[in-house]
Amino acid sequence: MPPAHSTVTALIVAAGSGSRMGGDLPKQFRLLAGKSVLAHAVDVLVAHPRIDAVRVVIGDGQQGIARTALGERDVGDLILGGAERSDSVRAGLAALGDGIVLVHDAARPFCPPDVIDRLLDALPRGDGAVPALGVADTLAKGVGTIDAMVDRGGLIRIQTPQAFHAEDLRYALGEVRGRATDESSVMVAAGLKVIIVEGDAMLDKLTNAADWARAEQRIGATMVSRTGSGFDVHAFSGSGPIMLGGVEVAHDRGLSGHSDADVALHAITDALLGAAALGDIGDHFPPSDPQWKGAASDQFLVQAAALIRKRGGTIDHVDCTIICEAPKVGPHRLAMRTRIAAILAIPIDRVSVKATTSERLGFTGRGEGIAAQATATIRMPA
Ligand code: CTP
Ligand code: MG
Repeated sequence: MPPAHSTVTALIVAAGSGSRMGGDLPKQFRLLAGKSVLAHAVDVLVAHPRIDAVRVVIGDGQQGIARTALGERDVGDLILGGAERSDSVRAGLAALGDGIVLVHDAARPFCPPDVIDRLLDALPRGDGAVPALGVADTLAKGVGTIDAMVDRGGLIRIQTPQAFHAEDLRYALGEVRGRATDESSVMVAAGLKVIIVEGDAMLDKLTNAADWARAEQRIGATMVSRTGSGFDVHAFSGSGPIMLGGVEVAHDRGLSGHSDADVALHAITDALLGAAALGDIGDHFPPSDPQWKGAASDQFLVQAAALIRKRGGTIDHVDCTIICEAPKVGPHRLAMRTRIAAILAIPIDRVSVKATTSERLGFTGRGEGIAAQATATIRMPA
């Protein structure tokens, strides 16, 4: 039985190319709800109280994209893997000391913490412990037609993470050559005893596009919808044109303001920040800061969207009402929606721009300036 203080290191293999998934990026570096698959996998392991360190194995040439995918997360030096998954595990193990190692696929981003507890509790009863689930479907062999049925009785499907003592796994990898899809196969082939604990459907591997769609749905179901509102006013001064809704609009009067005075974009920025409860436009872009003098307001919107996405959020919809007697907004409405959609990187059917006069009442009615109000609907992780 290992001493109670054995170090537990999670070793995440992320050196694959994700050929079955397809896409521009290997699946482990792609964003799922605003966070890379690898970052999801790292975060659940780092958060577990019984795991002391997390290390990541990547492919040669993936350093830049892996660093981007990991952000500020502390995973020590990245370890370079090899052509096959088992080469990557070997490389990872070579970089670790002794103690307990939890070998995990980056392509399984949602590891429930109680699976880790079950694995670590079971490990003293054997040389390794793996999570597994029964098989519910009828099993058969064949391509195109069925050649033979397979009795599913007693069959299980094995997931990761898998727990071992690093020295035992090193021994097994030294004894058993060739390709293996996981480490329990290597341990069993080397004659070692691997304990089975209950796995979890959340641990199913992201292998192809259908798995990706399911994972998006799963994570989407845990997001909560939030709404924010924004309001802004700028006074007319000098001569036009003006910036309004991200486009230049001809007008005899100009708008005064520290930045380009685009009231519509300012109201939308505040609505987005409000939905995320991240303060307001003045907190993020103080008028006292000279860098925002004359600034194009699309930067504010880009930044607000980035803050939401960094927290795993999604922008569902923005709606803005511009209040003025002149200029007429109607002829520019489509251009504004197109521009705002482009700035926020969302489809145009999620961007609404409306306009109204105030029936010649109040400051907008007297033509002293333009007001805008906006609503933003976003979803954030619960
Ligand atoms: N992996 C690895 N090194 C390799 C191959 C795979 O570290 N040479 C990792 C993958 O990054 C993944 C895990 O092993 O986290 C499981 O492998 P798999 O799902 O097969 O991923 P890929 O090999 O990337 O995908 P594919 O087989 O479709 O190309
Ligand atoms: Mg593979």
